[in-house]
Amino acid sequence: MLAFVRLLRTVLHKSGRGSESLARAPLRLRAGVFTVAAAGLLAAAAPAFAHETLKLDAPKPVLAATPPMGWNSWNKFSCNVSEQLVRQQADAMADSGMKEAGYRYIVIDDCWQKSRDADGNIVADPERFPGGIKALADYVHSKGLKFGLYSDAGSLTCGGRPGSAGREFQDARQYAKWGVDYLKYDWCSTGPRNAEAAYTIMAKALRESGRDIVLSICEWGNNQPERWAANVGHLWRTTGDIYDGWEGTKAWALGMVNILDLQAELWRYAGPNQWNDPDMLEVGNGGMTTTEYESHFSLWAMLAAPLIAGNDLSKMDADTRRILTNADVIAIDQDPLGQQARRIWKQGDLEIWARPLKGGEHAVVLFNRGAMPAGMSVDWDQLNLPAGLKADVKDLWSKKVTRHVRGRFSGTVASHGVLMARITPVL
Ligand code: GLA
Repeated sequence: MLAFVRLLRTVLHKSGRGSESLARAPLRLRAGVFTVAAAGLLAAAAPAFAHETLKLDAPKPVLAATPPMGWNSWNKFSCNVSEQLVRQQADAMADSGMKEAGYRYIVIDDCWQKSRDADGNIVADPERFPGGIKALADYVHSKGLKFGLYSDAGSLTCGGRPGSAGREFQDARQYAKWGVDYLKYDWCSTGPRNAEAAYTIMAKALRESGRDIVLSICEWGNNQPERWAANVGHLWRTTGDIYDGWEGTKAWALGMVNILDLQAELWRYAGPNQWNDPDMLEVGNGGMTTTEYESHFSLWAMLAAPLIAGNDLSKMDADTRRILTNADVIAIDQDPLGQQARRIWKQGDLEIWARPLKGGEHAVVLFNRGAMPAGMSVDWDQLNLPAGLKADVKDLWSKKVTRHVRGRFSGTVASHGVLMARITPVL
């Protein structure tokens, strides 16, 4: 019996159909592949999700040597997505300096889906996306950008649309046909599913889809993703959702510094093609001050976080654009060494975050969470540099360069602000 089951699985697999359809919809399988009776036998022997395996045959494609950069609809528009919005944001990304700064992915989050057709294919909301997803992806590509979609490992997405559970291979093939480059894969309505297995089966499906698709894992850090996610996806959420505020909690959403605190011990898990994801940016959405948004952006860059803008790119004010396109800060995020920052010092409201960069340089953030400005400094020995070393120090917000600095970098840090510097040893 076991050998028979294995044989059937192989036949199915080779026939290009996902073996998921075996356990979930045996009667729909084509005659000629195997008989309905045989399928019934197998379905009786196999528990739901029996297709799940932790084995990934194809290696993870290298699609995120540095953290992905892009835009996602959720933080600003939640379920109000449409083809018009996506075109407008793609136009804005291409024309606003965002594309030049390195942003690439235009990702539609939840609520683009409506139903499944008679064959089980996922169907986009025809009112919101009358031209269909393929034409939209083509449009985004025509701007020199990449296109992303959202789905969920459960029966329903968090917004109550059809999820991909049991349809992973079918959906992955559909995404590939449409020209999808990036999938954010959420964790609502998953019941007793095992997260590692659920994400692994989608990773398998994407790798077999014939197209390079980034897998953005979004199980909110609930199932120890640091144990398994690096083999499976390119980035993984580490917390519940961010909201557009400095500090606090709202239902299960977290303010910016609350999320930051949960990242402090995660540096060892990040690296090229495998990134911790502290959730998307709120810069420009109005709930924080300009100083706070500079801190948010600086700290996310220190964390080697995916830089996924979550604001309306078509209506950016000058500060929002200046922050999101700060090339010096982006270069820290995108440093090829891929070392996530550590919090190397903390006293009350004052913190120092540091990360080594490729070629012996360092990035440092002096961060003041307090209500008053504070004098702060970082000593070279805190960065494991010789105290007598001379270094050039660039302030990445004021752009001021100080040459041949010895011993330490210091300055006054605004309330809720940062001083962020790139330290280049003079040899
Ligand atoms: C979850 C995710 C969010 C967003 C919504 C969509 O909450 O964590 O980032 O995708 O679902 O419903």
